[in-house]
Amino acid sequence: KSVGLVDSFGRGITYARLSVTDRCDLRCRYCMAERMQFLPKREILTFEEMTALADILITRGVRKIRLTGGEPLVRKGVMELIRSLGRRIGAGLDELVLTTNGTRLERFAGELFEAGIRRINVSLDSRRPDRFAHITRGGDLNQVLRGIDAALTAGLAVKINVVALAGINEDEIEDMLRWCAAMAVDLTLIETMPLGEVEEDRTDHYLPLDVVKRRLEQQFTFVPSVKKTGGPARYFDIPELQSQLGIITPLTNNFCDGCNRIRIAATGTVYGCLGHDQKVELRDALRCGGAQAVDELMDRLLAGKPRRHEFRIGGAPAVARHMSVTGG
Ligand code: GTP
Ligand code: 5AD
Ligand code: SF4
Repeated sequence: KSVGLVDSFGRGITYARLSVTDRCDLRCRYCMAERMQFLPKREILTFEEMTALADILITRGVRKIRLTGGEPLVRKGVMELIRSLGRRIGAGLDELVLTTNGTRLERFAGELFEAGIRRINVSLDSRRPDRFAHITRGGDLNQVLRGIDAALTAGLAVKINVVALAGINEDEIEDMLRWCAAMAVDLTLIETMPLGEVEEDRTDHYLPLDVVKRRLEQQFTFVPSVKKTGGPARYFDIPELQSQLGIITPLTNNFCDGCNRIRIAATGTVYGCLGHDQKVELRDALRCGGAQAVDELMDRLLAGKPRRHEFRIGGAPAVARHMSVTGG
């Protein structure tokens, strides 16, 4: 009985976030601990297994797949996976998209476009080389900027993701907005979420986006936009800049009622919610059970998908796993 994926609250799932690897070449302070234990290779799904899973999900109504990580472009041979998923675009899949830290975009942008990707989100929390290096623990800003250029040249639509961090990049947000507007690139601000232990106390750098919005409104008009991408951001048109700003507010303005997503870790563990441990393990089913076994596990996941996350700032993280396990 392969029917659509609908949870117990009537929410239809059309968006799958697939983490290609939990590894990353950066170590953003709010995302990862300085020393991380990565998953052993044998536990990671092969590209064939990922593609087989994608096909099952597409049959059940998934229309958008976002590749995440860690950093998806650090997995060896990743273009092979992207090319095979790209062949599903227009044949069940509406969109294949990617969230990346941008470090390897200069090399991959052209191939991504050729594989059918049209839109990517690039994480970039600062445009100052020293700050960028601090936040990412050693990242090279220019490498990412060259990557963004290469993506635009290749014809990819780029959205910049900025995690708003009090005392770290809050004084740069207006500059980021103007810079993105000048490039005709969208910008999305994100509230820091408590996933996994990191060295720093996230409370110290938590910046509620209603505060940021009020500050920006002294300069700019925010007109609620009709733009929708199927993700958690709410968009505003900014007429003064002829641009748009998205805000993702898990803490100050819950968006879980409209949830349309599941997230798949590189091991084949599927999580019903970013903020809960509720999950099913698909790897064995993919390796020896076949589509029916996968379908049954997906039904179990959907039946137990939590209504909402319970993120709070202060106290222990909501879940022990880091963002890098599921890519958000
Ligand atoms: P678009 O397709 O452009 O809308 O992208 P997206 O916002 O869905 O994806 P992206 O990978 O750029 O994620 C932006 C931020 O949203 C990340 O910090 C994610 O962790 C966060 N995010 C995505 N889905 C959820 C969700 O269901 N719950 C919460 N709390 N955060 C989410
Ligand atoms: N809270 C909010 N956003 C986070 N990201 C990574 N860790 C966190 C966190 N703890 C962001 C990255 C990237 C996106 C996938 O999630 O910066 O843009
Ligand atoms: Fe890597 Fe992205 Fe996490 Fe930064 S936020 S450490 S770039 S996975």
